Amino acid sequence: MAYVIGVDCGTSGTKTVLFDERGRVVASHTVEYPMYQPQNGYAEQDPADWANAMTATIQAVMQKSGVKKEEVRGIGISGQMHGLVLLDKDGRVLRRSIIWCDQRTAAEVEEMNRTVGRDKLVSVTANPALTGWTAAKILWVRNHEPEIYEKAAHILLPKDYLRYLLTGEYATEVSDASGMQLLDVPHRCWSDELLSALQIDKALLGRVYESCEVTGTLTREMADRLGLCEGTIVVGGAGDNAAAAVGTGVVRDGKAFTTIGTSGVVFAHTSRISIDRMGRVHTCCAAVPGAWHVMGVTQGAGLSLKWFRDNFCIAEMETAAMMDVDPYYLMDKAALESPIGANKLLYLPYLMGERTPHLDPDARGVFFGLSAMHEKRDLLRAVMEGVTYSLRDCVEVFREMGLSVSDMAACGGGGSSPVWRQMLADLYNCPVTTVESKEGPALGVAILALVGAGIYGSVSEACDAIVRTAGVQAPVEEHIPEYEKYYGLYREIYPALKESFGKLAAL
Ligand code: XUL
Repeated sequence: MAYVIGVDCGTSGTKTVLFDERGRVVASHTVEYPMYQPQNGYAEQDPADWANAMTATIQAVMQKSGVKKEEVRGIGISGQMHGLVLLDKDGRVLRRSIIWCDQRTAAEVEEMNRTVGRDKLVSVTANPALTGWTAAKILWVRNHEPEIYEKAAHILLPKDYLRYLLTGEYATEVSDASGMQLLDVPHRCWSDELLSALQIDKALLGRVYESCEVTGTLTREMADRLGLCEGTIVVGGAGDNAAAAVGTGVVRDGKAFTTIGTSGVVFAHTSRISIDRMGRVHTCCAAVPGAWHVMGVTQGAGLSLKWFRDNFCIAEMETAAMMDVDPYYLMDKAALESPIGANKLLYLPYLMGERTPHLDPDARGVFFGLSAMHEKRDLLRAVMEGVTYSLRDCVEVFREMGLSVSDMAACGGGGSSPVWRQMLADLYNCPVTTVESKEGPALGVAILALVGAGIYGSVSEACDAIVRTAGVQAPVEEHIPEYEKYYGLYREIYPALKESFGKLAAL
């Protein structure tokens, strides 16, 4: 039997899973780490935390499983997109990584629009300049920390920093590189035109591969440290969403998924490049060679519920620990005790600004309609509903673009909640399926490693053999008009507050 390892470097932690060649989980281990918010709208992580978490989780799955190191045929890496890792000429990290949900770069986005032009950016990178994407972060460091920028010899994304540690190679792959906003997305290569307009030296960037290609092999030193063989292949892997697509079998036209992780994403596969000229949803290269995907992103999905848990659910966390259950299980139960509409309470999940559909780094979270009659369970339900309204906003844009969203799977931490899945089915007015494996991105990159190792001939062939649907949740007829009333009102709140958000940010 052959085995592969999938590493997923997420925002709340890194999860590593050892799979057999049929995609069955043999061992899994997660290590969490903090996100630093030195100012309102800033978000950073320490690449050393990612590196330590990767090492500890790979060591753990090898020890737990008892699988022989010679049987591990490859490694795939997935990770949070857009984060900026700057290394000096000796491969040392120069500053904490500015990560995907950081919103400090409004001025740099304007600078990009001025120097390159909005239309050019959309036609080359398939997206308008975005505050959370890597190019704006590079310019921010150049503008605000020139002494650090001067020392930078390599620019990498979070998972590509892990690749460098594993293999010594400076490389990336098309799905994650799309989110740097320096890639020519239609042609799947760095854009010389853009790099020269922004005066970013191409030599700073890694070589671009397709996601299932072999990008290097484990060095002797890393192999010894991890308990693996020198020479084990490391494939391109994918950004977390493109990886989750492979792990849920969303590799053909007509297939879509919603993931509720720290961010929330609605994702559709497309074999023909499709771009929203208004930039409300992103278009990126898919992890399937020659294909693309469109995704709408809500910045604060699982992040909203985690924020609520950490600040207001201490008692639930203690009870959950005593009962040996997940605190989210108890929170789900509490949310169910409040009716649809949470007793006339709405929540806007814009804790870290918002992308789809507003593209507004200054937007912030709102409870609308708070009354003395509300209890914690109403606030909880409002948070879950508000996140779902914002995911419905993504679906609305897809429908406008003519993209099919009728074959919808749910995944991510939030996707494992039956309460949240029912909200998705009711608000999308379509059945929402789940797949047997809960390992989304880790399974996705493990599948890419199986393809890279030659065990399967293509990504879709591997998905057909490995990914299985588990169940389906249908919309409940009578819920639909109820939710529609609240969703209609939800859509009125942001436009009414847009200006005030700007004023708050400027205070
Ligand atoms: C996608 C995005 C997030 C991150 C973190 O554009 O920013 O989904 O990848 O998960």
